[in-house]
Amino acid sequence: MKYKNLFNILKVLPLFLLIISCEGEEGSNGPIIIPVEKVQAAFNMSISSSDSNVLLLDNKTVGTGEFKSEWDFGQGGALVLDQPGIEEIRFDTDGTFSVRLIVTNDAGLTVDSKTVVVDNSSGGICPNGICASTNSAILKDAATTFFVGNITRASRVNGGGQHTEILKTHFSSITSEYEMKMDVMYPSEGNYDFTAADAIVNFGVDNGINVHGHALIWHNATPDWVKNFSGTNAEFETMVKDYITTTVTRYKGKIASWDVVNEAIDDGSGNPLRSSVFKDKMGDDYIKKCFQWARDADPDVLLFYNDYNMASSPGKRTAMFNIVDDLGDLVDGVGAQMHISYNGPSASNIQAVADGTVSRGLKLHFAELDIRANPNNDQTSLTAARADAQKVKFKEVVKIYNSIPLDNKYALTVWGLKDNESWLIDFWGHIDWPLMFNDDYSKKPAYDGFLEGLE
Ligand code: G3I
Repeated sequence: MKYKNLFNILKVLPLFLLIISCEGEEGSNGPIIIPVEKVQAAFNMSISSSDSNVLLLDNKTVGTGEFKSEWDFGQGGALVLDQPGIEEIRFDTDGTFSVRLIVTNDAGLTVDSKTVVVDNSSGGICPNGICASTNSAILKDAATTFFVGNITRASRVNGGGQHTEILKTHFSSITSEYEMKMDVMYPSEGNYDFTAADAIVNFGVDNGINVHGHALIWHNATPDWVKNFSGTNAEFETMVKDYITTTVTRYKGKIASWDVVNEAIDDGSGNPLRSSVFKDKMGDDYIKKCFQWARDADPDVLLFYNDYNMASSPGKRTAMFNIVDDLGDLVDGVGAQMHISYNGPSASNIQAVADGTVSRGLKLHFAELDIRANPNNDQTSLTAARADAQKVKFKEVVKIYNSIPLDNKYALTVWGLKDNESWLIDFWGHIDWPLMFNDDYSKKPAYDGFLEGLE
């Protein structure tokens, strides 16, 4: 008897093995899924450039043998057989839809599914499911107790267009991204070039926009002739004093504040003063000398020490507070750059920058805020999840800043207007979306986050 049963099992075994091998895994009470190496449903989708309520669907399924592709456009109704070329589907009603491509062969099926979000008040189908903000609030009007800043360039203040209009509409302070640094304003010994700086300052004065001067002394924006200065150390010091005096005097009454020294602290162990031609030729007290000369040139201008990683590096933060403590009455404020990410530094570390500044009775400038959504380069496009996390971080930073006492408030400056203008893309060599406006100047969820931080 037992041999007969064994024979019967052996007789049907090949068929059973064949079903398993070509039919793939039996989902737990679900459909039989075709093995990926056999066929894998896949499609790309994009928004029509001529109609933002039209979705373009491109079947990219690859596989072996015969298979059938059918669409479920997520709008109800029967499956639609895939046609050669691009499918164009209208989505006119607001909502969230699941678009599916179902691919079947005689062994089973495979599905690719993507979510489509439609918000007609934001323009129709939302790119990557991220709907542009329709919030009409004006940033500088919503921030009633401090300047809302952004950066600019001579080409942009003179260029007109959306960039200039958004700058004038939403921002109450401007910072020159690079044209008010020594390498641009003092390109050769005895030869100043204030052309770009004048354009930016005049734009601010003409439009009632606060102008923050950035930055008199920075090792990264030092002209070669200064780096290779051939005179004595005493002659070097005289040259620096003349440069600071000339520049600050020129903009007296027009520029409200200066970053006198930028990024003087080294990132290495113990965060000593960074080596630079200024430190090497003028001594460790070069910072105090520069602040004194700026103070002498314009007793009314606010003088800031500016640096980065103030939140993420407690050691650097301590070193910075030691510098400003040593400066005494020569310094009016701390510039914390705030080049951060959606996932850090923590709110408590950001708060520590504010607390240390406030406890010293100094002004706080969150000076260069951008919030990377792709710090680990694991995204090729901004996802809804990252956009929302970035929004939450903007809200957190603004809330911390807005919560400091009025006397310690100065400005919160965002380091760029629209994502594709950000320095971060070249600096890190990969795509990111760190700012509040999309490349088409539409407002991102981050914009709403900024406003929510003011509530
Ligand atoms: O616009 C000119 C272009 O006409 C020219 O062809 C090209 C090549 O010479 O240069 C272009 O200007 C460059 C400018 O960025 C605009 O792209 C300057 O050379 C370049 O030096 C400048 O870099 C700036 C950098 O500081 C150095 O000044 C960045 O825009 C600016 O975002 C960056 O900002 C710094 C802060 O000042 C301090 N904190 C860190 C932050 C990021 O590095």
